[in-house]
Amino acid sequence: MEVTGSRDALREVCEEARRKDLSVGFVPTLGSLHEGHLSLARRAREECDFAVMSIFVNPLQFGPNEDLASYPRHLGRDAGLAEEVRIDLLFTPDEAEMYPHGRGEVTVDPGPLGDRLEGVSRPGHFRGVCTVVAKLFDLVGPCRAYFGEKDAQQLVVIRRMVGDLDMPVEVVGCPTVREPDGLAMSSRNIYLSEEERGAALSLSRALFEVRELVAAGERDPRVLRARMQARIEAEPLATLDYVAVVEDRTFEDVVRVTGPTRALVAARVGKARLIDNVLLSVED
Ligand code: PAJ
Repeated sequence: MEVTGSRDALREVCEEARRKDLSVGFVPTLGSLHEGHLSLARRAREECDFAVMSIFVNPLQFGPNEDLASYPRHLGRDAGLAEEVRIDLLFTPDEAEMYPHGRGEVTVDPGPLGDRLEGVSRPGHFRGVCTVVAKLFDLVGPCRAYFGEKDAQQLVVIRRMVGDLDMPVEVVGCPTVREPDGLAMSSRNIYLSEEERGAALSLSRALFEVRELVAAGERDPRVLRARMQARIEAEPLATLDYVAVVEDRTFEDVVRVTGPTRALVAARVGKARLIDNVLLSVED
């Protein structure tokens, strides 16, 4: 595996791969890798000839009161894991390399979806995500880029950006990887004490419960939202941020669960702000 912190080197190596007619797969991350990230990397490895991963804690997508300074960084360990899953090229820039003129003035507007749900709690977050992902796409020139459904709104925002700005890349959504007890894997889970980790399970449990309700015939999003809210509010260590039931492709609130629908939750548990979601499938 080659490792570089240089944009020029990244562009050059990826250009050379494409010149050789190799398909390029790309997995952008903030690092502190876990099985969720590695599932994306394995899929890129399987489906593409040349697999690129980036590790960059992008300051542009963190709000002023968020965990930028304390965000876990384990570059040595991450490089070992990337090598194990046979990434060909690991890009690990520092802030000065990604934003040589400060953080830049030209940014990518995520559109109205950037202001909803996560965007309400994290103003500017999706602008930061879109800007860095657009830069990385331009440097790597990937044929396919891999994103997790764990961050379902991010996946939809990126799909829109790629569609609206005619970026020549196929965005591949990958299923959420969970711990055996259901907790969605996240780099932020390390902020949780043992007791808080137990409380964090209220998110996935609430989601699994409404998935069961839908399987049993419930179609009213108000009932589903109320159930998720009650479940999370019953957990004293969890502070609910939002619950939502949205159409999976547009992320618009639904008035009735008919087609592919996603249930989402966000809550704070101790120092960690956690998000999770499930797809609700309807077979009528
Ligand atoms: P990060 O949180 O490191 O996640 C990198 C990728 O891994 C994202 O596509 C995310 O959805 C996916 N992922 C995280 N946890 C997962 C899980 N449990 N199962 C499946 N996939 C999971 O998302 C970001 O970084 C950044 O916003 C980024 C896109 C890199 C831009 O800076």
